[in-house]
Amino acid sequence: MLKQKIYKLLIGTNNKGKLREIKSLLPKNIKIHSTSEFNLKSPPEIGKTFEENSLIKSKYFSKKTGLFCLADDSGLEIDFLDKGPGIYSARWAGRHGDFNKAIKKVYRELNKKNKNWEKKKIKARFICALSISYLNKKIACVVGKVDGSISHKPKGKNGFGYDPIFIPKRSKKTFGEMKPSKKYKLDHRFKAFMKIKKFL
Ligand code: IMP
Repeated sequence: MLKQKIYKLLIGTNNKGKLREIKSLLPKNIKIHSTSEFNLKSPPEIGKTFEENSLIKSKYFSKKTGLFCLADDSGLEIDFLDKGPGIYSARWAGRHGDFNKAIKKVYRELNKKNKNWEKKKIKARFICALSISYLNKKIACVVGKVDGSISHKPKGKNGFGYDPIFIPKRSKKTFGEMKPSKKYKLDHRFKAFMKIKKFL
């Protein structure tokens, strides 16, 4: 466990949806910095797992700024698509981060696998690896998951990314239809945060 108290923390993401969500989870006594203050682009995600990519980001952003960095790597796994898009979740949206495009690709791939996919329950889960690094040193890396299924069509305008097509277990609504305050208390990022907060 870290002996030094973290009182300044960089959130290592250029994704506004993630930034909003992570900010809402952090204790108020920590001064939060974002990558936009430093004009930093994200590093290439060359890892093979969510954990590896999360650590690539937290180490990279910490080295660039000299601050402790909390970074997330997350994505959607769909069992019927052999766990895709998985670590490629952001890449399915293309260079401009177009999630209408990514969602269309999900439905196209489901159709390719089986024209009658809508008759089945398409199990899926969101996964989030959160890590804290200081310069090149890993302080912690944890994983959180939320199980659910894929909606037959996109629903709801809240959230970001794949939220309109993901229905968490024991819910009838997609994340896109839920109030952010509700989503933030049951999703993969929240579960990962509960495991990492003792390091802050
Ligand atoms: P990365 O972690 O930068 O590789 O991006 C992960 C991608 O997964 C994001 O761009 C989102 O599209 C998707 N994703 C991760 N978490 C969520 C979420 O909570 N809701 C919707 N989409 C998500």
